[in-house]
Amino acid sequence: MSKADLDWPNLDFGYHKTDYNIRHIWRDGAWDEGVLTSDETIPLHIAATCLHYGQECFEGLKAYETKSGDVVVFRIDENAKRMIRSCQRLHMAPVPEELFIQAVFRVVNANRKYVPPHGTGASLYTRPLVLGAGPRIGVRPAEEYLFLVLVTPVGPYFKTGFKPMALKIEDKYDRAAPCGVGHIKVGGNYAAGLHPSLLARQEGYADALFLDAKEKKYIDECAPANFFGITKDGRYVTPESESILPSITNKSLVTLAEELGLRPERRPMPVEEIFDLVEAGCCGTAAVITPVGSITYGDRKVVYSKDGKPGRYCVALYERLTAIQVGDAPDPYGWVHVIPPE
Ligand code: PLP
Ligand code: COI
Repeated sequence: MSKADLDWPNLDFGYHKTDYNIRHIWRDGAWDEGVLTSDETIPLHIAATCLHYGQECFEGLKAYETKSGDVVVFRIDENAKRMIRSCQRLHMAPVPEELFIQAVFRVVNANRKYVPPHGTGASLYTRPLVLGAGPRIGVRPAEEYLFLVLVTPVGPYFKTGFKPMALKIEDKYDRAAPCGVGHIKVGGNYAAGLHPSLLARQEGYADALFLDAKEKKYIDECAPANFFGITKDGRYVTPESESILPSITNKSLVTLAEELGLRPERRPMPVEEIFDLVEAGCCGTAAVITPVGSITYGDRKVVYSKDGKPGRYCVALYERLTAIQVGDAPDPYGWVHVIPPE
C-alpha cells in the first residue's frame, strides 16, 4: 500500500487530516459496535455535559512502523487503564480495555497509509477521547457518552525536537489542585495551563514548569509532560505528586534508567533541587524526551546545556526508549504490541 504524500521528516505536532476516525456510543448501559467514518465533525447536543461541565477525558499514544513494515503501539494497555481511571473520576461510562484496544487497532488499520515510514522520526499520534454527549442543565453526569479515536501523523511536540529547551517555573498560576483531577487526563487541566504556557512562550521559553498548588515548594510537571532530573551521584529523580499525570513514558524511563545504572527515585522534588541537577528533561508520549537546557525560577537561572547539546543520560535514555518503541531493539518488557492487519 502506498503511503500518503507528506513531508514525513518535517512534520510538526499539528492536526493533519487522515481518512477515518472511529466512534462508539454508550447508550442504555452499553457500548455499541462502533463505526469508522470520514466525517471530521460530530453532531453534539447543545446541552451536552462535555460542553458545559467539562465532562471529557482523553488519551494519547503513538503508532510506529517498524523496519519490517509492522505497525506497533507502545504500552496501549496502560493508556486503556488510565482512561478507565479518568472516566471513573468524572463519573463517565468507562471504556473497557479490550474495546479501547480494538478501536485503536481498527482506526490505525483504516489509516495505514498515514503511519509515517520507519526512520523518519515521525509517528501516527492516536487520540482517544470520551465525551459526555447527553443533555443536562443541572450539574449531573450525562446519560449518553461518545468514545472517539482520531489519528494524525505528527513530528516532535516541542519544535526544537531532541534539543535542549528553556523552561520557566510558574509560581502564579496552577495547573491542577491536590485531590482534584491533575492525576487524570481531562481537558480542564490543559485549559488551566493554556494562559501560563502562552505567557512563558511570549517570554521566549518553550513552556511553563508548574509547582505544587498547595505550597509552591515542589515541582509538579510541565504542561504536556512529566519532569525528571539526573543528579551528580547518578540518580534519576522524578516528582511524586497527587496532581500530576502518571506518565507511561516516565514509568518506562524509570525501568530504562535502572538498566543504565541510574538509581530511580520517585518522591516530592523540592524546587531548589533544580540547582543541583546535572541534567533535566521532560517526558511524555508527545514530548518523548525533550532535554531541558535551562530553567528560570524568578530571577535565578540554572543552565544544564551550555553548548546546545543534550546531556549524555538524556541521549542514552532517548535512544534506548525510541529503539524499543519503533522495534529497532528487542523488547524485553513486553511493551510493544503489533497491530494485526485486517
Ligand atoms: N503529563 C501531562 C500533563 C500530559 O498531558 C502527558 C501526556 O500524556 C504526560 C504527562 C505524559 O504522559 P504519557 O507518557 O503517558 O504520555
Ligand atoms: C501526549 O503526550 O499524548 C499528550 O496528550 C500531551 C498533549 C498535551 C499533546
